[in-house]
Amino acid sequence: MIKPHGSDTLNPLFVYDSERHDALSREAGGLPSMLLSSAAASNAVMMGGGYFNPLTGYMNRVDAVSVCEGMYTTSGLFWPVPILNVTDRVDTIESAKRIALRDPNVVGHPVLAVMDVEAIEEFSEDDMRFMTEQIFRTQDPQHPGVATFNAVGRYCVSGPTQVLNFSYFQTDFPDTFRTAVEIRNEIQEHGWQKAVAFQTRNPMHRAHEELCKMAMEAVGADGVVIHMLLGQLKPGDIPAPVRDAAIRKMVEIYFPPNSVMITGYGFDMLYAGPREAVLHAVFRQNMGANYFIVGRDHAGVGDYYGAFDAQTIFDEEVPEGALDIEVFRADHTAFSRKLKRVVMMRDAPDHSKEDFVLLSGTKVREMLGQGVAPPPEFSRPEVAKILMDYYQGQAA
Ligand code: ADX
Repeated sequence: MIKPHGSDTLNPLFVYDSERHDALSREAGGLPSMLLSSAAASNAVMMGGGYFNPLTGYMNRVDAVSVCEGMYTTSGLFWPVPILNVTDRVDTIESAKRIALRDPNVVGHPVLAVMDVEAIEEFSEDDMRFMTEQIFRTQDPQHPGVATFNAVGRYCVSGPTQVLNFSYFQTDFPDTFRTAVEIRNEIQEHGWQKAVAFQTRNPMHRAHEELCKMAMEAVGADGVVIHMLLGQLKPGDIPAPVRDAAIRKMVEIYFPPNSVMITGYGFDMLYAGPREAVLHAVFRQNMGANYFIVGRDHAGVGDYYGAFDAQTIFDEEVPEGALDIEVFRADHTAFSRKLKRVVMMRDAPDHSKEDFVLLSGTKVREMLGQGVAPPPEFSRPEVAKILMDYYQGQAA
């Protein structure tokens, strides 16, 4: 099986030993504590599940800046996006050696993790500008990722971290949420020699469905792990339970049995396009996937990134051998009126734009909101039904 990133075995930061877990939970109740930002909480969930292997905790200032600059930590680990616990308030933890990290997304703010504080440092304005530009390729405060990144404060609290639970993800998505440890195990149990991972934050339309099938076929994979984002999104994106239901319906009807694992992970969307695509590849390797699909405008938002920037970063900025997982690069995919099937545009060089069924996200939302199903060439009718019910419920 493919090795995790940066180590021979996966080292999740969740405390699996029940005695240690009990002792740490008891101790945490008496420790100075801080309330995490949602982004920092989702970092803890990812570290807990082994997705951010081989990190042992939140990064300090110099590693964060180093990762932003050249995608390596100061100790030489390839890593594309800083994994931070940033806050605007440190008065409750000043001079503390060990602290409890509280969950902002669960009622009562229970302890999510315990951290041994190595440093509390302040990012300068220059640091923030530099990191923002490197991660997002823009500093536009209208960019939802830039806005979130700059809204949480300037104090960087770093150190080794032990994780005590998986926030709201295990309770809210019991059938879908998985750790990287669980996905690795399931891939092995299925006996899959080659697994493809598919990132998504959307319900899956025909293009998404066919991308999975085309990738499986092209690389000779035994199965695809549909891995949906279950964390926070920007307003207007479709909530996870609705996407989950749509994806389950599509898989049930349109995929061969035992060729798909429907799974999700607890991370907030960054909308960082190319850099996020590289982070995505890192954690798909950690969960045991051999291939990772990157298509058009992967993890993008608005017009901030070129349609294929999230592919070219792997050619231009990710050094040879930095990752073992291979990227399956997908071209713009749509239904061809001539061929009567969904194809990648590069495979239909004689087509013009008019030969494809193309609909913008805005147009699709408008149709669904009015109870009009997008054409079956764009969305499976069963998927469209789930989405129309959701949008009309919103309007009511
Ligand atoms: S993302 O933010 O998670 O990337 P989305 O769920 O829409 O958004 O996309 C999931 C994956 O499918 C990404 O790799 C994206 O590039 C790819 N993709 C989505 N639609 C298309 C399309 N029409 N053509 C090619 N790739 C696509």
